[in-house]
Amino acid sequence: MRKIGILTGGGDCPGLNAVIRGVVEKCATAGIEVFGFHDGWRGVLNANGHWLTLNEVEGIQTIGGTIIGSSRTNVLADPNGPDKVANTMKTLELEGLVAIGGDDTLGVANKLSKLGINVIGVPKTIDNDLSCTDYTFGFETASNIAMDAIDRLHTTAKSHSRCIVVECMGRHTGWIALQAGLAANAHLVLIPEFPKTFDEIVSLVKRRYLRSDRYTIIAVAEGFELADGDQIDLGLDAFGNKLLIQKNLAKNLSDMIEKAMRNDPELGSDAKYFECRPVVLGHVQRGGAPCAFDRVLGTRLGVKAGELVVNHDYGKMVAQSGNSIIGADLETAVTVRKEVDKEFYDAASLYFK
Ligand code: F6P
Repeated sequence: MRKIGILTGGGDCPGLNAVIRGVVEKCATAGIEVFGFHDGWRGVLNANGHWLTLNEVEGIQTIGGTIIGSSRTNVLADPNGPDKVANTMKTLELEGLVAIGGDDTLGVANKLSKLGINVIGVPKTIDNDLSCTDYTFGFETASNIAMDAIDRLHTTAKSHSRCIVVECMGRHTGWIALQAGLAANAHLVLIPEFPKTFDEIVSLVKRRYLRSDRYTIIAVAEGFELADGDQIDLGLDAFGNKLLIQKNLAKNLSDMIEKAMRNDPELGSDAKYFECRPVVLGHVQRGGAPCAFDRVLGTRLGVKAGELVVNHDYGKMVAQSGNSIIGADLETAVTVRKEVDKEFYDAASLYFK
């Protein structure tokens, strides 16, 4: 009897359960049993998990999160980590692993693969920043949630002539902020790939305030840094450390804009009442049911990962390429980050007004 293990690592992501279902269903066609490790690599290190049945995975593509749990445990942080993984696999008689995760989880998978362990990677992140795949599942759901939120913020911001700074997830890249911001008509989108100065930001808010619209919505990715970040004086914390704008990004940016607007002599006396509000969307973007696109992409990636297992074709990452699902190079996927390209950001910038 052939057997494999499956794990979900890193932040949870809508579409994970669709992948698990796809792997279990495809493996079942060849009589391969699948052991679901609990809580990512931690479950592999501790040999903790359970055998997944077809019954258990039926219809789970409709549910958010992951039925086997996740964690940010790093196998490589323990010098004996790879040996522990090999031992667990030996004890459970597993011929290989399917690791579903982002750059950290897949980085471990790649290392283990080089050490001779049979691994297949499945790219997962709402941030959409993994290369070698056109899209990662979860991104579409997260962007739709952020878009809905920004849609709603327009009326309240407009009613009070306020500036609202909406912080979206995206630690290294601005895919969600840009996708949601462009779709929901944010007046400015700030992302790590294209830093802007504080003056550039506040002058847009000022321009809008002087026009009839008066209010501004700014979508900002959590990894955004000001082009002149070091020159902004946010004071010191209780330990005397310089406060960085990245800490409490939306709040800091919002406070800075409010202060600059209130003190601008060109804006007239009314501007001293100008208000800004920060909104941090946070984990709301990762929660709840996946949209149709992510259910289907997750399913197709899972079925493909199962197919690679059936064919003993290990050492790859499954990926979307155009309309096809392929086996891509795992090494490239974990070493090159997929950033928002200039053409996309420039097109969106037409609407920053
Ligand atoms: O990597 C996905 C992600 O959602 C990032 O956008 C975010 O910075 C991070 O995870 C949050 O992680 P945690 O759930 O550990 O707070």
